[in-house]
Amino acid sequence: MKNQDSILIFGASGQIGKSLIRKFTKNNYRVIAVTRSIHQKGYQIKTQSNYGYLELEEINSFDEHNISELMKKASVCINLIGILFERKKKQFGLIHTHLPSMLSQLALKNSLDQFIHLSALGIEAATDSNYAMSKLEGEQRVRQNFSKSVILKPSIVYSVDDNFTTSFMSLLNILPIMPLYYKGKTKFTPIHVTDLSNIIFEIVKKKITGETIECIGPQVFTFKELIIKILKSINKKRLLIQMPLPLAKLNAKLFQLMPKPLLTMDQLKLLKYDNIISKKYKTNFDMNMEANKKFEDEINRYSFNWSSGGQFSKKRISKIN
Ligand SMILES: NC(=O)c1ccc[n+]([C@@H]2O[C@H](COP(=O)([O-])OP(=O)(O)OC[C@H]3O[C@@H](n4cnc5c(N)ncnc54)[C@H](OP(=O)(O)O)[C@@H]3O)[C@@H](O)[C@H]2O)c1
Repeated sequence: MKNQDSILIFGASGQIGKSLIRKFTKNNYRVIAVTRSIHQKGYQIKTQSNYGYLELEEINSFDEHNISELMKKASVCINLIGILFERKKKQFGLIHTHLPSMLSQLALKNSLDQFIHLSALGIEAATDSNYAMSKLEGEQRVRQNFSKSVILKPSIVYSVDDNFTTSFMSLLNILPIMPLYYKGKTKFTPIHVTDLSNIIFEIVKKKITGETIECIGPQVFTFKELIIKILKSINKKRLLIQMPLPLAKLNAKLFQLMPKPLLTMDQLKLLKYDNIISKKYKTNFDMNMEANKKFEDEINRYSFNWSSGGQFSKKRISKIN
């Protein structure tokens, strides 16, 4: 039977998923969290919620029957499944276009109240990036399939649980120099994960449908400015050098051979385009959904892990005292 306050989340074990589980369960919603491996991800997901508010579901094959069975128990479905690089050819298309298309069709079939789909900001102009084009096509399919959908397009989402600030903190710790692609001039509007979760929570609470919303934080930074802020936060000085494009391409070609690549050719292409609002869609601010967390304040809460001395670093100790 459908439970009116049940939220079905695909990709629940990621940064945004875990934050959403905390937000919804704390507010007495029941969450059905879907993962491909309870064995691998179950312990991380289980610790995010109060006892009794969370149901864990393992799905390995995303077939219509399995998904429909889960949708029968929920009133809202949130799709957070996404990848940053392809392990096989055409994987972007499968994950970012085909899967959201199928989920939105099934959301219609199972009479859900809302389908919330996470796409990305700044992808419209990036016609040479497979990631961007697969996400964009996914958005279009979701809009066509189900009128009660909401498409969210966040800029970089950051927190102690992210793949962005924490990776750069680790890298900057060991590298004596940091390469800047496109002169480090690409702009970003980072949003803290709890600000994004609050926005998603409001969308569910207010039963908003039929919208595409660009989700941004309160500040705009260039890539170079972000790196300088991260360096300051971990109390390190590094040489920032502008890397010429042919060298950057060589870099990306080598990096993308790694099991979890630091940079791929597709990501290098995407980095050329500003990650700021398009003015084509409303933003969270236009919809009175604030996102006020400041980048430097928030990264300072966890950057001590990457400072000399770690949890015993001078910065952390002085904060505690
Ligand atoms: N984080 C950002 O800065 C950012 C910015 C813009 C847009 N977004 C979008 O927001 C969504 C959520 O972001 P996130 O940072 O929370 O993502 P994430 O941490 O990378 O998590 C995504 C989840 O997707 C699932 N997944 C990964 N590969 C999969 C595959 N091949 N098949 C099925 N499931 C797979 C994983 O769940 P299991 O392993 O448990 O199955 C994973 O927990 C994504 O669509 C992302 O593109 C994120």
